[in-house]
Amino acid sequence: TGPGLGGELVSIINKLQDAFALVGTNAASQIDLPQICVLGSQSSGKSSVLENIVGRDFLPRGQGIVTRRPLVLQLIHRPSTTSSTGGTEHTDSEVDDKSAIQDEWGEFLHLPGRKFSDFGEIRNEIVRDTEAKTGCNAGISPQPINLRIYSPNVLTLTLVDLPGLTKFPVGDQPPDIEKQIRNMLMTYISQPSCIILAVTPANQDLANSEGLKMARNVDPEGLRTIGVLTKVDLMDIGTDVLDILRNRIIPLRLGYVPVVNRGQKDIDSSRAISFALQKERDHIRNTLPSIKASISQRHQRLSVELQALGRPLAATNSANVLSTVITDFATEFRTVINGTNTAALSLDQL
Ligand code: GDP
Ligand code: NA
Ligand code: MG
Repeated sequence: TGPGLGGELVSIINKLQDAFALVGTNAASQIDLPQICVLGSQSSGKSSVLENIVGRDFLPRGQGIVTRRPLVLQLIHRPSTTSSTGGTEHTDSEVDDKSAIQDEWGEFLHLPGRKFSDFGEIRNEIVRDTEAKTGCNAGISPQPINLRIYSPNVLTLTLVDLPGLTKFPVGDQPPDIEKQIRNMLMTYISQPSCIILAVTPANQDLANSEGLKMARNVDPEGLRTIGVLTKVDLMDIGTDVLDILRNRIIPLRLGYVPVVNRGQKDIDSSRAISFALQKERDHIRNTLPSIKASISQRHQRLSVELQALGRPLAATNSANVLSTVITDFATEFRTVINGTNTAALSLDQL
């Protein structure tokens, strides 16, 4: 991306996405615009994953059905105008929010010209417009909300937040809610240029993953499906994600990414993303020394093993290696035979 042809292309695609959104949802599925979509069961952590990618708090998240309309989120990289940081991380939320007023803002397609520099207000507007179109009682709608975020801290790309897969109607939902959500998701994930983030909580059995199953239907070769394992922090003691990451359970060509998002308690106490990032840094600082130690231990052990295997043969070519080995063996054999002869070992005994 960035300036030049790539940047220009993205900007044209962004305009197309807006145009299609204005004409109606059916038109959007006729042209295959590249975007990254989240796919998974309700409350698997889809909105949380997207928020982490953006690095700001602005999406409605929580238990139950929270995301009830598709949110087409166009991230637009825009170099910082303030000279201060230019980094990609938000370390201090207060400083952050002040610089954000100039550097980062959001704009909704349905509210042209209005800049939202307070990301909390962006969230409020998403909730308000969701309720305006679908009511307050768990109704859903395929009509997307289009939001652009301009920031020096994002890559220019399009992310789509989607409602999650469910089984039973709740609140005002129609009896065929499961089918309705599936159809809505299909219009996005069946597009060949859609990259699917198949989100599965790590504290559930991977074989039960609705997201992976649906992704496989539209992308059987796994060319555009990335597995995301959320809630790694909630895994039962004694279990881990290693076998999944080694691609031994349900292999994905593009593999899996494990993540820890903020939990419900963090949401309820308005823990900022900067807090989560700081916690992550501290965690890395705490665990890295022991990881390093175990690597160096292993290195030491393998070095001893390697030493026991004798002098290296790598420098010679394979024919030479073989003849060296045979010569060495013959010499050794002769020595042994000569030795055993004197120890009165007859050939019968061999
Ligand atoms: P969505 O319905 O798939 O969009 O899921 P949300 O992002 O709304 O998250 C649903 C609930 O799971 C919220 O209470 C989140 O705080 C919680 N959650 C999501 N990811 C994690 C995680 O990695 N760890 C923990 N502890 N909770 C998470
Ligand atoms: Na949820
Ligand atoms: Mg959601």
